[in-house]
Parts: sequence; C-alpha cells; structure tokens
Amino acid sequence: MRKTPIITIPNPILRQRAQKVSKFDEALRLLAANMVEMMRKYDGVGLAAPQIGVSKRMIVLEFNPTEEESEKPFPLTILVNPSITKYSKEKVVMLEGCLSLPDIEVEVERPKEVNVAGQDLEGKTVKIRAKGILARVLQHEIDHLNGVLFTDHIKDYKNIKHYRDLRTVLLGTPDLAVPVLEAMIVNGLNIVGVICETDKPVGRKQELEKPPVKVLAEEYGIPIYQPDNKEDLEKIVEDLQVHYGVVAAYGKILTKKVLEEPPFGFLNIHPSMLPKYRGATPVQNVILNGDEKTGVTIMKVTEEMDAGDILTQKECEIELNDTEGSLDMRLFIEGANLLMATLPLYLSGQIEPRVQDEKKATYTKRLKKEDGLIDWSQSAEEIERMVRAYFPWPKAYTMITSNGQEEGDIGQLAVGDKRLIFHKVRVENGKLMPEVVQLEGSKPTNWEDFKRGFRGKLPETLK
Ligand code: CO
Repeated sequence: MRKTPIITIPNPILRQRAQKVSKFDEALRLLAANMVEMMRKYDGVGLAAPQIGVSKRMIVLEFNPTEEESEKPFPLTILVNPSITKYSKEKVVMLEGCLSLPDIEVEVERPKEVNVAGQDLEGKTVKIRAKGILARVLQHEIDHLNGVLFTDHIKDYKNIKHYRDLRTVLLGTPDLAVPVLEAMIVNGLNIVGVICETDKPVGRKQELEKPPVKVLAEEYGIPIYQPDNKEDLEKIVEDLQVHYGVVAAYGKILTKKVLEEPPFGFLNIHPSMLPKYRGATPVQNVILNGDEKTGVTIMKVTEEMDAGDILTQKECEIELNDTEGSLDMRLFIEGANLLMATLPLYLSGQIEPRVQDEKKATYTKRLKKEDGLIDWSQSAEEIERMVRAYFPWPKAYTMITSNGQEEGDIGQLAVGDKRLIFHKVRVENGKLMPEVVQLEGSKPTNWEDFKRGFRGKLPETLK
C-alpha cells in the first residue's frame, strides 16, 4: 500500500481524548504546518493532530472541490481547542471516509448545521457557523479529538461499504488453511493473492505435490505466489499493495518489513485461547494435557511469535475422540467464521485490541518423529491421549522386535527393530486396549488380527 505516516486503526491514540492546547508557540505552528502538509499530500479534507500521533486538540481543514463535486469549497482553516456549541435538529446522511481507516466508506447521519467555537494559532477566539460539507468535516475532525471515529455512528457494521473490496492476501499452506480461503472466497473478499510454500516432492517417486491451498486458489483463478526466501516474500507483499493480510498455518515468521507493509496489518488465526498454548503445537498439547476446552484466537501478527494483540476469541469443546487432525480442522473452520465476523468490525475501528497477559503465556514446541515414542511408565489414560494428540503426525509408537527373538529390554521404553504405530486405542478398566495398529512398512490392521499373526515380542503392557 501507499505508505503514509498517518496513524491507522487500531492504534490506541485514535481512541483517546486529546490534550487541551495551552501554549500558542512555535511548536504549535510547526505542528499545524505539518498537519496541513499531510492533509494535502494524502488528499484529505481534514486532519486531527492525533492522526499524526500527537495528542493535542487541533484540527486542520480545507476543501477544493473538483469539477464533478457540487459542494461549496472552504479555505484552509486551522482550529485549536475547537468545540461544537450548537447543533441543528435537522440531520443529513453523507458518505464519509477517513485517512486513518484507508478506503473504508460509510454513510453517516449527522446534524446538518453546527456552530463551532475555537482558537486560532495566536490563541484568538474563532467562531464558525457551518453547513454542508464544512459542517460535516468539522464534526468528523472534532470527533477525532474525543477518540470518536466516524464508524462509531453506524449500527450495522456489516453494511460498511467496500470493506469487502479492500485488497487482501492469504498466507497459508496446509489443509488447515483451506476452510479459511473458502470462507474468504464465499464472503466475496478481494483476494489478490495466495502465498504458500513451494511444491514439495513426496513418496518414492518424489513427485512434486501442490500445497492444498494452491489447488483451491487455482480453481478460483487467484494468483499464487510461492516465495523461496524472505526477501522474495517481502517483494511479493510490497507489490500486491494489500490493505491487510490473513495468516493461517503459514508456519514461517514474517519479517518487520512484511508486517509493516499493509496499513491494517496481518490477522492470524491461532488454534488456542491465547496467551495459552503459543507456538507450533497448541492442539497436540491441549489433547495431551486432557483439557476439556480450547478455542481459537484472531490476533494481530507481530514479530514475536503468537504474542500480538487479541482481536476476538471463541471457545470450543474438545470431544473425547478428537485427534489433533480432527480438532485442528474444527478450530480452523470456527476460526474462519470468526475471522469473517471480525473483519468488518476490525476494519472499521470497532475492536479494541487486547494486549496478551504475558504472565499467563504458555508455550508449545515443534514435534519430531521420535517424540511419538511411548513411555510405558505413563498411565493408560495418558498414553491414550498421546495416541490422539499425535494423530495423524508424528503418531505414537513403540519399538518391537519383529524377528521372534526375545531381545530387547522391556523397561520404560520398549526397544526393538521396528516401530509399531498406534492409530487408535481405548482404555478399559485402566488398561490400554489397542484397536488399530500398523507395523512399520505394512498396512494398518486391527489389533486382534495383528496379534494373531505376530511372532515377535510385545511390550509387557500389551500382552
Ligand atoms: Co478522520
């Protein structure tokens, strides 16, 4: 996007009451000059000091209509400590926009005429009787000094004009990102690109496989980008000129340069109730821990992983037979719906981002294949949860000797020459009962059939 130094939502300064000006000095004149320059540079008809990060009660306004516009012009006006002293009863509806909410437009009803009192740069009293567009701009800018946005005056945010037209991009790769892209398509968002990992070789033949989101994006003719490195990604995001981005299971850290590109930033769907379970494996860990509930968070992306401000959250139950695969997918489907409900509110400045409580943060680690090795000193319940938490990857397993010899020591960890993988188990009277297992290199089979045909040695617990 065209970068501007003008502050955009959800920066909290836009929601604060600005400070009264008491010194009419050179610094104030410089601030006014700066504001006028910004307003003209970015084609605004008004600007309030908080919009350039200064908490002072000063506004500037100026309107030179183009030939198509019928409203009356008004000259450059600089007002210090302005307030509205009288409103007309009659109200009018007009389409409004604001440099702090780029490209969002809303029809807002306001009093048709106002009287405004304020001061000029010398501190002398100024009084204005305004109607038409001047009355409109005065009300809009004075609102800014009170932490009020023009979008606060509407009731149904879903009717905000053009929010769907804002340019957006999805960053995501695996099947979990698919329901998110689907929701974005169904909701008619203006998706100008999908960014995913490069095609990866799979199987014995090492044939290239497309990431799941790429397959869906191709169906809808959405341009696909598969950057090789972070410089590539920076260039792509810069060229796409998006208003905001959506991140869903992208799996890579975004650099500061990428994060600062879109004026509304990046929104991430994280499958946990942050600040709990930050990191790569939140869903595996809620199941391992035997939690009854988890949830999904829509948050701003920052450089520090999963530490950004929270926009919205939704709790979800964990079912007794949930695996990582089933629960993660459900959370991303819920997350996609939550994101769709969040977007019109967020993009119109109606959500106050919530800072995460760092003291309550917990962290999860990326898993390795070996993390699936079962520790038989754990209870049957713990092992049952591990089987579900690690399905479909890395899968819980034990080592067994498959050659029939009584080698290997069955202690806390079974040893042997082959992995016996557990797809499904249950607990019966405190005992772990396998249901579906798979000997490494063979097909999954039910436990009774496996046991009947197996000539090797099994861990004590399973005999
Ligand atoms: Co504004």
